Amino acid sequence: MKEILVSLKNSPYSIFLNAPLQRLGGFMRKVGFRRGISPTKALIVTHPFLKGRYGTILQKSLSSAEIQTSFALVPPGEKHKNLKTVQTLYERCLESKLDRSSCILTFGGGVIGDTAGFVAATYLRGISLIHVPTTLLAMVDSSIGGKVGVDLPGSKNSVGSFYQPKLVWTDPQTLETLPDREFRNGLAEIIKYGVIKDAHLFQILEKCVPNIKSQLNAVIAICAQIKARVVTQDEKETHGVREILNFGHTIGHAIETATGYSDYKHGEAIAMGMCAAGEIACDLNLWKRSDQSRLKNIILRSGLPIRLRKTIPSRKLLSLLYRDKKSVSGQIRFVLPTRIGHVQLRTISASSALKGIRSIQP
Ligand SMILES: NC(=O)c1ccc[n+]([C@@H]2O[C@H](COP(=O)([O-])OP(=O)(O)OC[C@H]3O[C@@H](n4cnc5c(N)ncnc54)[C@H](O)[C@@H]3O)[C@@H](O)[C@H]2O)c1
Ligand SMILES: [Zn+2]
Repeated sequence: MKEILVSLKNSPYSIFLNAPLQRLGGFMRKVGFRRGISPTKALIVTHPFLKGRYGTILQKSLSSAEIQTSFALVPPGEKHKNLKTVQTLYERCLESKLDRSSCILTFGGGVIGDTAGFVAATYLRGISLIHVPTTLLAMVDSSIGGKVGVDLPGSKNSVGSFYQPKLVWTDPQTLETLPDREFRNGLAEIIKYGVIKDAHLFQILEKCVPNIKSQLNAVIAICAQIKARVVTQDEKETHGVREILNFGHTIGHAIETATGYSDYKHGEAIAMGMCAAGEIACDLNLWKRSDQSRLKNIILRSGLPIRLRKTIPSRKLLSLLYRDKKSVSGQIRFVLPTRIGHVQLRTISASSALKGIRSIQP
């Protein structure tokens, strides 16, 4: 097991990598109390498939620590990351008689983590939260950093909060059942880390993608470390440090919103968003054409899209950029690459943004 400390001043916590599900209960029993992780009850929020496949292991593990468990099941898909699911989960919390000494344990990908994390942040004004991520994307990204929340019909991630987990417990064995398309989805965030912070990681990807499995534990560790470091420097995205994690996300979120969160996976949308941002950066002479080709190549080799399958009117995507949380007073803030491993925050004009958007039309 490898431990990464997210050393936030008021709410530090650890991410354990290579951490078998079977050992979670034992860990909580031994060191839980000291680390503020000693719930008497846990509501495990997950999808039906994951409960069927891993529920018993998880339940056994927690009962060895004398933690009473119950399950709340959410159907899979981004379209369930909404306030209706939140309401259903609050009701499950009441039925399970969760109190302030209880915890919510999220067992799934980013959709479960974000949605149930928001419930943990708000039920009884906040109860303990433990993330057990089961998708590559959640392991390298969404389980770390405390962003929780849900989508509104016309706006991605628009209701939410910052709420740190007490613990992140990552068991890569769970990836064995992850469908290929979901695995590729996680690769998009990994490529993002390479571009924004780590040229060496980018080279590792160039060497081994799509056969990344032999390097997987190392790659997960690099990404978790990067994310932990960035969010420690800027817990609530107020110092401009954390914003770099949004590389590819400005246009990516617009694509997800424009298509009703159903045509593209989050990673697929941000893959196209990264291509568009790269194009904007090329146009502004910030980023070399050769680096843009490397970026597009690694995206393609990862089985991710560099263009939309069906046209979305460019003006429609542009108008969605203004609705993005990152847009401030009508200005569009963009994370633009300058060289592999480095990005810059820029305010750009609508015509620049349009060039990027047009470059990913089919
Ligand atoms: N909070 C953050 O900081 C943050 C960061 C990045 C992304 N996100 C959010 O994360 C979400 C995307 O998360 P995701 O890509 O994990 O998608 P997801 O949570 O929808 O999971 C993808 C699919 O994989 C299935 N699945 C999960 N684990 C599995 C396993 N081990 N075996 C078999 N099937 C499994 C799920 O049932 C689901 O159908 C988006 O809503 C995005 O906005 C949040
Ligand atoms: Zn993302």
